[in-house]
Amino acid sequence: MSDATVKSVRSRDSVANTLLVAAALSLVCSILVASTAIILKPMQQRNEDLYRQQIILDVAGLYEPGANIENLFAGIETQMVELATGHYTDAISAEGFDAIAAAKDAELGINIPAEDDTASIRRRARLSPVYLVRRENALNQIILPVYGPGLWSTMRGFLSLGPDGSTVRGLRFYEHAETPGLGDQIDKAEWRAEWVGKQVFESGDQPHIEVVRGSVDENSNEAIYQVDGISGATLTGRGVTNLVRYWTGPHGFGPFLKRIRAEAAEND
Ligand SMILES: Cc1cc2nc3c(=O)[nH]c(=O)nc-3n(C[C@H](O)[C@H](O)[C@H](O)COP(=O)(O)O)c2cc1C
Repeated sequence: MSDATVKSVRSRDSVANTLLVAAALSLVCSILVASTAIILKPMQQRNEDLYRQQIILDVAGLYEPGANIENLFAGIETQMVELATGHYTDAISAEGFDAIAAAKDAELGINIPAEDDTASIRRRARLSPVYLVRRENALNQIILPVYGPGLWSTMRGFLSLGPDGSTVRGLRFYEHAETPGLGDQIDKAEWRAEWVGKQVFESGDQPHIEVVRGSVDENSNEAIYQVDGISGATLTGRGVTNLVRYWTGPHGFGPFLKRIRAEAAEND
């Protein structure tokens, strides 16, 4: 090997060259990863939206496996509600509304006073979407987005109520990180079925519904407001009680539900 060839191989293997190749490779890889993330973002968002729509359809008992979710969901009316007044508003579109970001926003969010914060949420958006199912022009179901802390995680889901604004039609979570086999039993069809037909309100504006510890005494007058606890997951169950009570209570959708209950009473 000539002196010139040896020199050229040495300079290719130099520390500077190795670092340069490593840096170039990292740059190319990060550009690839970043552009893939950017390209996939809208697809990911669409899948998340579709999944939420599927859960809304499911909690309303309208989900048909294999059917086109967007077509089914188009039959559900979406409205934005100003929580403090319970009135519909078109100040913000429900499409793409991000309740988590809105809660953090100085103008779109508000602090929850400690005495009202039964679910320890601290802050929430001023507005929220609600989903209405109508049958022959009459209100048939009201579906409310609800969330709050469980034992390990924020549990996010939808609560469906009948047109009286009190009878539960369904409760279903689409996001949480409770323990598999314990807290995650909130997703089990048997437990979800227990909610159907229960009453949120006894009298007045304070929700009375709760997940009890152990089993509901079916002979008790309270049974209509109670759901069986999940064995070994009392804390997750307590979180569910707290969040359902907060969102149906006076600082949550209470004013909206009061309006719905008054309309239902008028129509009777
Ligand atoms: C690893 C581990 C995971 C747990 N996960 C949950 C859970 O997801 N939800 C819950 O309520 N309790 C969970 N627990 C149990 C709680 O610490 C607590 O004991 C339980 O909620 C009490 O419910 P019980 O009175 O029905 O036994 C977990 C405990 C351990 C050790």
